[in-house]
Parts: sequence; C-alpha cells; structure tokens
Amino acid sequence: MLTDARKLIQQASHIAVLTGAGISAESGIPTFRGPGGLWRNFRPEDLATPEAFARDPILVWEWYQWRRGIIAHAEPHAGHFALVALESRKGRTGFTLITQNVDGLHDRAGSSAPLKLHGDIWTLRCTCCAHSWVDLRPDFNPFPPACPECQSLARPGVVWFGESLPQDTWRLAEQAVTFAELILVIGTSSVVFPAAGLIPLARHVGTKVIEVNPEETPISDSVDFHFRAPAGELLPLLLE
Ligand code: OAD
Repeated sequence: MLTDARKLIQQASHIAVLTGAGISAESGIPTFRGPGGLWRNFRPEDLATPEAFARDPILVWEWYQWRRGIIAHAEPHAGHFALVALESRKGRTGFTLITQNVDGLHDRAGSSAPLKLHGDIWTLRCTCCAHSWVDLRPDFNPFPPACPECQSLARPGVVWFGESLPQDTWRLAEQAVTFAELILVIGTSSVVFPAAGLIPLARHVGTKVIEVNPEETPISDSVDFHFRAPAGELLPLLLE
C-alpha cells in the first residue's frame, strides 16, 4: 500500500494537501474532537462564535490567550517538515497546502503561504476599523488587547462558527483541489464544513485521495488509501 501511494505522489504533477488539528497533535497542541479534544471540555458556543465574543470578550480572550501559550511552546514535527520537502520537490505550481489550523506550525516549519481557511491565532483584528496585525506576545498587557490605530477592542483573527471563510482563500482552495491529481487529507475529522466539502469536490472531478488519520472518519471508506497512523510517523515514510 505504501509503495502504491508513493508512486501516486511521485507521478502527480499537482498535489493539494488539507490538514486539520491532528497534524499538530504530536506537537502537543490539543485537537477539537476525540480524547482530550478541546470541544470535550469547552462549548464552542461559549468561546468560538461572534455572539460569545459580544457577550463576554474577556472570557473568549482568556481562552485564546491560553491556547496561544500552548502553541508558543510547541514545535513543528517531522510530519510538518515532510510537507515542506514535498513542496520543494513539486515546486510552486505543483503543490498547494490548505489548512484548517490557526497555530502557524506549517509556517514555522517552512511551508510557503499555506491557505489558512480558519485564519491565524497570531493575527489580531480590530472590531471597529479595518486594521489587522500580527502580535506574537504570549501575554497581553493591557488585557484584552486593543487596536494600535483606534484603541478599540481587538479580536482574534480566526474564523468563528457562524462566520464566512475568507473568500479569496476559499476560492484558491477550491481551485487547487479541482486542479490537483491527488489530495492528501491529514489529521482532520472531516466533519466541519465548508472545509470538509473540499474532499467530495475533489472526488467529484476524479482527484485521488489519500487519508492519514489514526481513526476512521466519514471519508475513510471512500478514499483511495487510508493510512491509520500518526502524521509525524507516517508522512516522513510516505513522502521520502
Ligand atoms: P478535529 O479535532 O475535529 O479532528 C482531528 C483529527 O485528527 C481526528 O480525526 C483525529 O483522529 C486525528 N488525529 C489525532 N491525532 C493524530 C495524529 N497524530 N496524526 C494524524 N491525525 C491525528 O480537528 P479538525 O478536523 O481540524 O474550527 O477540526 C476542524 C475544525 O473544527 C477546526 O478548524 C476548528 C474546529 O471547531 C473552528 O474553530 C472554526
């Protein structure tokens, strides 16, 4: 199975990769669902919706600040680096990385311009003017953070439930999966739409699918190859 999948990867002139929280699990960043997942202990409607932020911005910021602290201490692993090596082999026109993750580990590993469907936890946005900026401080002082331009309340630069994905980024992701000959789906439960919709879209146009996930997901039965293994172990073997 590994040999056949490797052949597919070598032969594909364009590969799209869709990653989710599972690729960062071995870096020590909790996933959302499954054992130890964030949504086992917290309710998304209290922490990850515009209504939750309007109701209690301090609570929401405390949660994001806690997550920023965990992520700041995490390092990319061999799986992230294997994707960087694949990108350099395939080149700019042969590789597109699409991620649902906000942690920035793909950037830190060296991936160039991943398409971030759910934003970036290190970016802040003003709730009043159009300003957005990168802020890498582990602790905000004053708290909660304010816009440097107009002093209004800042919000995390992530996509919350009930919000639209960044449209340009989404369009590029759709184009990539329809143009690609192969999509690697790594570490995602494939249940959160619209991101999960990229996989049926790819299948619809005949794109081959390889899934890397220790667990079964709703797409596992319909993919070409499902490797039930952790990304940090499997990707270096698959992509070597
Ligand atoms: P989930 O937490 O839903 O799924 C993580 C997946 O990673 C699960 O299917 C696990 O089996 C798998 N997994 C765990 N460890 C792994 C490992 N070492 N290697 C490979 N896979 C592993 O995370 P996402 O699918 O990313 O959205 O969740 C999608 C979205 O739901 C997130 O972006 C977030 C969340 O609510 C927003 O906040 C808008």
